[in-house]
Amino acid sequence: MSELTPVLTAQGVAKRFCQSEAQIAVLNGVELTLSAGERVAIVGRSGSGKSTLLHVLAGLDDADAGSVTVVGETMTPASSEVRTGLRRRHMGFVYQQHHLLSEFTALENVAMPLRLNGLSQPEAEQRSAALLTRVGLARRLHHLPSELSGGERQRVAVARALIHAPSVVLADEPTGNLDSASARELMSLMVDLSESVAVGFLVVTHDPSMLDHFDRVLTLVDGKLLELPREERN
Ligand SMILES: Nc1ncnc2c1ncn2[C@@H]1O[C@H](COP(=O)(O)OP(=O)(O)OP(=O)(O)O)[C@@H](O)[C@H]1O
Ligand SMILES: [Mg+2]
Repeated sequence: MSELTPVLTAQGVAKRFCQSEAQIAVLNGVELTLSAGERVAIVGRSGSGKSTLLHVLAGLDDADAGSVTVVGETMTPASSEVRTGLRRRHMGFVYQQHHLLSEFTALENVAMPLRLNGLSQPEAEQRSAALLTRVGLARRLHHLPSELSGGERQRVAVARALIHAPSVVLADEPTGNLDSASARELMSLMVDLSESVAVGFLVVTHDPSMLDHFDRVLTLVDGKLLELPREERN
């Protein structure tokens, strides 16, 4: 990959859902290019297809048409093995509801992507402890998700998404369940981390006060992504 290779692209991505007789075209020709280290927000009304888009970009869901590339490699169309491999090596994903594994400690949750990439347990845990310390959780390493606050769980989820130094992180309303102070803190943390490791961030958010953190803001309308001019951000 050259420095100029986008970390994520989408071309002509379409996705529709069939509900009884009706067909709902949720994505209808999505075009996107995310550069290395770029931070892009996606806004759009509820039901406009933001989560569907993130799932298709992450290869967690199929597209009906179009293509997606990750660091220049084809994510869609591709087999589920190829997609899993690309996601494991190059992507992090932060869900709205953290999706941490409830039986595992904070440390074990963060170490998981490294273990899946073949690192030994001591090395994976050492790196995970260092990142958890960076996100302010040095004294919470051995807590289960149920023993953490909402904001702490989201910080663990962010650490888990970043631990394997991915090229791109997709986040679906990562601050959606937090009070405004915790949301601001988490977003600043993501910005700091994205700057220090030059990861491309694509973040769905409903919160206009977050948008200053982003290089570009896109809106999903009628199944297409449009650039939102700076003056229309609030
Ligand atoms: N598995 C499915 N089967 C049928 N319809 C679906 C399915 N998943 C999503 N949809 C529909 O697709 C549309 C887009 O859903 P999506 O979850 O992507 O919206 P969203 O923009 O993320 O909304 P929100 O802001 O509320 O999270 C919705 O109208 C939803 O009802
Ligand atoms: Mg959604």
